[in-house]
Amino acid sequence: MKSGKSWLKARISNLKFEKPESERERLDRIKAEVLAADAEAPSGKTSRRSFLSKLGIGATLLAIAGQVYAHLRSLKPNVLYEEPRRFKVGAPDQFGEGGKFLEDKRLFVFRQGKTFYAISASCTHLGCTVKMQKLNQPKRVKARGREFDEQYEFHCPCHGSKYYGDGTNYAGPAPRPLDYFKLEVAPDDGQLVVDMSQSVGQDFRLTV
Ligand code: FES
Repeated sequence: MKSGKSWLKARISNLKFEKPESERERLDRIKAEVLAADAEAPSGKTSRRSFLSKLGIGATLLAIAGQVYAHLRSLKPNVLYEEPRRFKVGAPDQFGEGGKFLEDKRLFVFRQGKTFYAISASCTHLGCTVKMQKLNQPKRVKARGREFDEQYEFHCPCHGSKYYGDGTNYAGPAPRPLDYFKLEVAPDDGQLVVDMSQSVGQDFRLTV
């Protein structure tokens, strides 16, 4: 018969002291379980690992495509749809004597008998649209070294600039006369054509 001491020793040596699982060990165990589950996944079915892998590749490709698109887009200039600067304004007989204001073009087209000319309605100060003022009676004025009787003037409502009937500035902050634009006759249908890309002198006249 064993003594009490030796019996106690034997019991202690048989006891298993399990160490608590560390965080690192826990992660390793989970990883091993996932890999084992993937390995056991039936063929033909997408495993979790390959699914995540495909998802990662897809996201990378998407990011690259975005970068390429942004680069290509930066090479292409933004399109500006500007109004054409050369356009038809109608047949000569559609214009009566005196001035006609073409609001959408901010332009005056004048007729004196068989001659025509076009004056910009854009104030040379800051670009407001000037108004044509019909005078109650002709006014004798001197501009550009010559005297003439004028029937109308141009006044700017923004800061008070004033222009004689020939477009010469004489009051307010406007720094220079109103622009004159080239006028010609369209060869196909005889309409008047204004070319706002070409400024001409104040003496320009188109005879039809
Ligand atoms: S914009 Fe015409 S006077 Fe200033």
